[in-house]
Amino acid sequence: MGERLKMGGSARAEPRRDRFDGVCEVNRLICREHYLLRVRFAHGLPPTEPGQFVQIGCRVPDLAIDEAQWLGGDVAWEPDRLPSVGQAELCQRTAVLRRPFSIAGRGDDEGGTWIDLIHRVVGIGTEWLAGLRPGDAVDVIGPLGNRFELTEGKSLALLVGGGVGLPPMFYLAEALHRAGWDAVAWVGALSRDLLAVTFNEGCAFGADGELSRAVAEFSRHGYPAVITTDDGSLGLRGRITDGLSRYFTSLSEADAGRAVVFTCGPEPMMHAVAKLASQAGVDCQVCVEQAMACGMGTCQSCVVKTDEQDHPHGTTADGRAWRYRLACTDGPVFPASAVVW
Ligand SMILES: Cc1cc2nc3c(=O)[nH]c(=O)nc-3n(C[C@H](O)[C@H](O)[C@H](O)COP(=O)(O)OP(=O)(O)OC[C@H]3O[C@@H](n4cnc5c(N)ncnc54)[C@H](O)[C@@H]3O)c2cc1C
Ligand code: FES
Repeated sequence: MGERLKMGGSARAEPRRDRFDGVCEVNRLICREHYLLRVRFAHGLPPTEPGQFVQIGCRVPDLAIDEAQWLGGDVAWEPDRLPSVGQAELCQRTAVLRRPFSIAGRGDDEGGTWIDLIHRVVGIGTEWLAGLRPGDAVDVIGPLGNRFELTEGKSLALLVGGGVGLPPMFYLAEALHRAGWDAVAWVGALSRDLLAVTFNEGCAFGADGELSRAVAEFSRHGYPAVITTDDGSLGLRGRITDGLSRYFTSLSEADAGRAVVFTCGPEPMMHAVAKLASQAGVDCQVCVEQAMACGMGTCQSCVVKTDEQDHPHGTTADGRAWRYRLACTDGPVFPASAVVW
C-alpha cells in the first residue's frame, strides 16, 4: 500500500472560504431528478480542488428574519391562539440550513468564475434549487473541505462514482488529465434514467462491461468508462463493483502498483469498493457525503469514525482504536483504510 493520507494534514486545501453572491447561469434537467446547475461569480472565487464542496443557501437569499419585528417589535399573540406570522421563513416550508454539494467542474474566463454542481431532487432544499432560472441569485459558502490527493509515484486513476457521487469524479478527471494521469471510470446508477452523465452519440455502451467512450465527461479527457445499471437498462447489468472486480482480475502487477481508486457514492458502495481495492493491493480514497449542517467544523454533526491510535474515542470489537473526525473539515476525502466502516 502506498503512503497513507495524513488526515487534516497534507490533503487539506488552504482554508480560503468565504460567502459569495453567485448568479445562476444554467439549471437544466440532465436526467430524471438530476439538474446541472452552473453558478457564475462575476468577481471570481478562490482556488478550488476536486473533492471540495460548497454550501448553498437553498432559499431566496433575502428571506432573513426581520429582527426588528421578531426581536425588537411587538407580535400580536393572544393566549390559546397561534401568533399571526407574516415571515415567509416561519410560515412556509423552507430549507433553513445550507445544503452541501460537491464541485463538479470549474472555469475561469473574462466573465469571472463559474462552478458546476449536479443536484438530485430529494427534499425541500433541492426542490427549491430545481426552480432556479438563469439570472437568479445563488448564495454560496466555499470552497469547503479537503481534496483528493494525486499521490506521488502513482499515475493510473480508477474513478468509481455511483449516483450523486459522480460530480466530484468529473472535476477530478479534469485535474488528472492536466497532471498527465491515465484513468478509467466506472459510472453506476439504479437505471439508465438516473445516470447523471452526458452521452456521446454513436458510441457503444458496453453491455458486457467493456470499456466505453460513451460518457462525455470522461471521454473528453481521453478516459474510457464502464457503465453499470442495477436493472440492466444500460451497460452491464449489476452493481458498479461487478464491473470493478472484473477489471481487477485482469489488472497487471505493474498497473496495480501505479493505481489509485478514487470513489464517491452511497456508503455501502464505497465500502464494497474499498474492500475490492484492498484485496487488489490498490490504494483507495473515499469521498464521504455524510449529512451535515454547518459545513465548517462548528456543529459536530458530520462525524466519521477513523482508525487512530492517538487520543482514541473508543475501540472496536476487534480491538481497533478509533477517533471521530469531521467530514466537513478533516474530509470529505479520507483514505479508505482509515475509515472504520
Ligand atoms: C460533502 C457533500 C457533498 C454532496 N454532494 C452532492 C452532489 O454533488 N449532488 C447531490 O445531489 N447531493 C450531494 N450531497 C447530498 C446533498 O447535500 C443532499 O441531498 C441535500 O442536502 C438534500 O437536501 P434537501 O433539502 O433537498 O433534502 P432534505 O429534505 O434535507 O432531505 C431529504 C432526504 O434526504 C436525506 N439526506 C439529506 N442529506 C443526505 C446525505 N448527505 N446523505 C444521505 N441522505 C441525505 C434526508 O435524511 C431525507 O431523508 C452532498 C452531501 C455532502 C455532505
Ligand atoms: S457539518 Fe458542522 S461540524 Fe461538520
